Amino acid sequence: MEKKKIRIALTKGRIENKAVDLLEKSGYDVTDLREKGRRLILTIPNENIEVVLAKAADVITYVEHGVCDLGVVGKDTIMEHGGKFHEIADLGFGKCKFALAVKKGTDFYSGYGVKTVATKYPEVTRNFFENKGIDVDIVKIEGSVELAPLVSLSDGIVDIVETGTTLKENGLEVVEDVAPVSARLIANTVSIKLKQERILEIVNLIKENL
Ligand code: PRP
Repeated sequence: MEKKKIRIALTKGRIENKAVDLLEKSGYDVTDLREKGRRLILTIPNENIEVVLAKAADVITYVEHGVCDLGVVGKDTIMEHGGKFHEIADLGFGKCKFALAVKKGTDFYSGYGVKTVATKYPEVTRNFFENKGIDVDIVKIEGSVELAPLVSLSDGIVDIVETGTTLKENGLEVVEDVAPVSARLIANTVSIKLKQERILEIVNLIKENL
């Protein structure tokens, strides 16, 4: 009997490359994934596994809607986006952190005025300050958030820090870590029940090769 079909959504880019390496290490034939060109749907031959490539937030959407059974996406997107799915494994790559950063030498927590924080992640930022009981104004920025405090749009930023180079080269420094981030394996809530055997087989193979 043919194995039940499994469709996996991979976040394009850095996470994708690491995920493909992990699939290969787990014994899967990733030739089609390595030779993808501009194609968005790839196959792992003889396994009845289809891999689709999407932007991070869309990986969650495809998994939530059940058109993909599994997804590989960063915890940063999971924290910002939320949603109804199971987070089944920390894949250990794509490691970085959310941090609050300011212009070097400034004291974010000094004074009484409400501070302004620029970020690509307003939900993460709102939760962080809400848990502290601190009122802040949040300004949503689409990218290169480091610019905001430099031109006095904000007092600080909440952003992804990986090596710390971007902060350093722009005269910024971390005030406080917000949360650790890494790539996660997520699963559709119904697939987990209806395709339990297949999903377990794949997840166990992957976990053994982390
Ligand atoms: C991310 C993040 C920082 C940078 C941190 O940006 O927003 O700018 O990486 O990395 P580092 O600590 O190693 O310097 P990304 O490359 O995703 O682009 P973006 O600025 O458009 O978000």
